[in-house]
Amino acid sequence: MQYSGAMRIPQAVLFDAYGTLFDVYSVGLLAEQLFPGHGQALGVLWRDKQIEYTRLVSTSSGGAHYRPFWELTHAALRYAIKRLVAPTLAPGARFDLQIERLMNEYRCLSAFPENREVLRALRDRGIVTGILSNGDPAMLALAIKSAGLDGLLDHVISVDSVRKYKTDPLAYALGEQATGLAAGQIAFVSCNAWDALAATWYGYQTLWVNRYGLPFEELDTEPTRTGSSLRAVLDFFPPTPERGFTP
Ligand code: LAC
Repeated sequence: MQYSGAMRIPQAVLFDAYGTLFDVYSVGLLAEQLFPGHGQALGVLWRDKQIEYTRLVSTSSGGAHYRPFWELTHAALRYAIKRLVAPTLAPGARFDLQIERLMNEYRCLSAFPENREVLRALRDRGIVTGILSNGDPAMLALAIKSAGLDGLLDHVISVDSVRKYKTDPLAYALGEQATGLAAGQIAFVSCNAWDALAATWYGYQTLWVNRYGLPFEELDTEPTRTGSSLRAVLDFFPPTPERGFTP
């Protein structure tokens, strides 16, 4: 979709973190070294189980089983190894060292290459920028630092403060509270189709970054925009070539 002057121009852009700014599948390489033949499948199951656990603890028993994202990520990795790798090895094999190495890798995930340039372009235009993520504050701080994104984000918002994971409305409401803007004045950007969908339902303008050529969710709602990289967020704004802002 191209910019249309009739559309509301967002005053802030909030990004999902894991999968959107940080490449959660970059761990596949190390996983393949540690567990030859299982790296890719392990990366995918690890991610799927991590998200499943966020939903499980958010929707069960009034949230009594909430645990920070780091702990759920650790639990999801243990599950993925038990399911995919353990059955192929001797009974009783232990994986503590491999788990530690993979979790360390997760602390400093590769960032997508266009992140800095896009964040800079938004900042140059005076657009408020931030992260709205399931990640807990310590994880996010480290990931931001190791990706060199320090100083490019006005807000780093973690759902940990409400102990509810996306797609709970309390989690999305944090973006409005932090910026002082209504959801309709904010563009929310995610590579996760489910996250872009739920943010659209919540009332945000949304960009789904479809990095992997996937279909969108079949639930009769479309994101405001779809693009193939983070650069597509610039299409929300009228072009200002003199400032090096080239959507
Ligand atoms: C996040 C997860 C959903 O960063 O990737 O919120």
